Amino acid sequence: MTNPLRYGLLGAGMMGREHLRNLALLEDVKVVAICEPNPGMLNKARALAPDAVFVADLLALLDQRLDALVIATPNFTHCDQLLTVLAACQVPVLIEKPLVTTEVDVTRLRRALADRASLVWVGMEYRFMPALAAFDAKGATVGQRRMLSIREHRYPFLKKVDDWNRFNRYSGGTFVEKCCHFFDLMRLFLKAEPVRVFASAAQDVNHLAERYGGAQPDIWDNGYVIIDFDNGCRGMLDLCMFADGVRFEQEISLVGDLDRLDCQIPGPFRVVGVAPEPARLVVSPRAPVAPVIENIIVPKAAMDAGSHQGATFFQHQAFVAAVRSGKPAAVSADDGLMAVLMGLAAQASATTGQAVEIDAQNFRLLR
Ligand SMILES: NC(=O)c1ccc[n+]([C@@H]2O[C@H](COP(=O)([O-])OP(=O)(O)OC[C@H]3O[C@@H](n4cnc5c(N)ncnc54)[C@H](O)[C@@H]3O)[C@@H](O)[C@H]2O)c1
Repeated sequence: MTNPLRYGLLGAGMMGREHLRNLALLEDVKVVAICEPNPGMLNKARALAPDAVFVADLLALLDQRLDALVIATPNFTHCDQLLTVLAACQVPVLIEKPLVTTEVDVTRLRRALADRASLVWVGMEYRFMPALAAFDAKGATVGQRRMLSIREHRYPFLKKVDDWNRFNRYSGGTFVEKCCHFFDLMRLFLKAEPVRVFASAAQDVNHLAERYGGAQPDIWDNGYVIIDFDNGCRGMLDLCMFADGVRFEQEISLVGDLDRLDCQIPGPFRVVGVAPEPARLVVSPRAPVAPVIENIIVPKAAMDAGSHQGATFFQHQAFVAAVRSGKPAAVSADDGLMAVLMGLAAQASATTGQAVEIDAQNFRLLR
């Protein structure tokens, strides 16, 4: 029996507590310290991690002899917090997406991470959803990959502590905050880097009547993004956040010269009295025409511990294995930063009406 890994948690809001519930399912870890400034969130976290000590700030958290740190704070705070950790110690970090919210911080963080051995793992939970892991494993069945479309139609942004997700300056904008997951999946499934991004988007329906300190939210609630990749593949994102009633929240299609592969994922909200349906994969060969459907069953404990189809549990299993073995992060800081850059390119394109080129080698937008 190995010694349990000593985890610390910075930020115990909605996602931080999803991490706590999932860590409680792992045998070889314990959460020893939490930093959470909001009294309501702190009390909820205490109920989930009664043995943890609660500390006042990040530096006090880093004093707790941690083997691993989870950062689940608002997006705009990530960059400075990670820089503080890197300056103070070498503790392995699992930091929530988006890793940063501005192009300036992409450069700052890359500079700070150059030549450093620290394990920095970006919380791209979607990669660890069982249905999407199965989709990735089956990718080769489509033949030569040509097109990938990701449709997310869902409910509006939820309420957050101090409403940080209502404004672009705190969240990075909808294509950074929400869609960095999908841009990350595009790179993963197409095995390519982005070259050019064209987007159209707006805030048409949601949050229009809300006011915070007199200001109206400026986050977009729908849009399309088209991306050219350096291997000739095309990706497309179709986002709508006023489609609460849909059967599948994400519908992902990869098309090659042989087959089409689909993944359909139901959303987290259950209809009362109706059994939840599983995510599914569909392989549709061009010939003979005979689609094959496979349901993807997620273990109940992992499913119930969060709202990401068990992904947070499987991500922690993989993160713990990396911490114990010294192997590199499955989702590196560069992965996280490229997903942010793609989101920033989409934000800029939809704002200007012009396509935005990405210099993927140097992690910058060409404008
Ligand atoms: N990977 C995913 O699928 C996923 C899903 C949801 C949220 N997230 C990400 O997780 C992060 C947190 O989101 P959330 O939904 O939990 O938001 P939230 O508002 O519910 O929680 C954020 C928490 O951080 C706390 N906090 C703020 N400043 C802090 C500081 N300096 N030190 C310590 N704690 C601080 C707040 O009090 C709050 O409790 C965001 O980056 C978000 O984008 C990721």
